[in-house]
Amino acid sequence: MSREEQIAPVGGCKEETYQALRKEILAVLKNEDNTIARMATVVSLLHQGFGDFLWTGFYLVDENRPEELIIGPYQGRLGCLRIAFGKGVCGTAAESEVVQIVDDVHQFPGHIACDARSNSEIVVPVKSKSGRLIGVLDIDSEQRGAFNETDAQELQRIMDEVFAN
Ligand code: SME
Repeated sequence: MSREEQIAPVGGCKEETYQALRKEILAVLKNEDNTIARMATVVSLLHQGFGDFLWTGFYLVDENRPEELIIGPYQGRLGCLRIAFGKGVCGTAAESEVVQIVDDVHQFPGHIACDARSNSEIVVPVKSKSGRLIGVLDIDSEQRGAFNETDAQELQRIMDEVFAN
C-alpha cells in the first residue's frame, strides 16, 4: 500500500470518515504496542483525516503527580503543559471519566483557552486494558457545536480498540 492510498478520504459523512480512519489506525498500529507511538499515530491520522480540527491531542495522567494531566502527543498550536484534575474541559473529563461535548467553550466554566480561535470541543477519557485512566483525547474546533454523539461514540470506540485491547 502506498502512503497516498493509506490516507483516509476527507469528506463524506462523519461515520464514513471515522470508519476509514479507524481501519487505518488499527492497520498502522498492528505491530506496535508503545503507548506514545500509538497516541502520536492516532493524533496524526485523526487531525489530517478530518482536516478541519483546530487542535487534536492527548493529555496524560502524570504518574508522578496523579492529580494532574501533562501534555502528550498533539497537532496544532502550542498547548498548555499541565491541567489539574477537575479544571477545564480536559480536567473535568479526567475527574469524571465521562466524555465531555462542549458546543460553546466560552460558556464552559473554567475553560482553559490555549488557542483563542477554539469555539467547541470534545474530550474523551482514555483507559488501559486494566480499566485505569491513562489520559484524555482532546479535540478542538473553530466551529461552534462541531461535535455530537457520533463523535463521542466513534472516538470512544477508537480509544478502546487502541488502548484497552
Ligand atoms: N481546552 C482545554 C485546554 C487544552 S487546550 O485547548 C489544548 C480545556 O479547557 O480543558
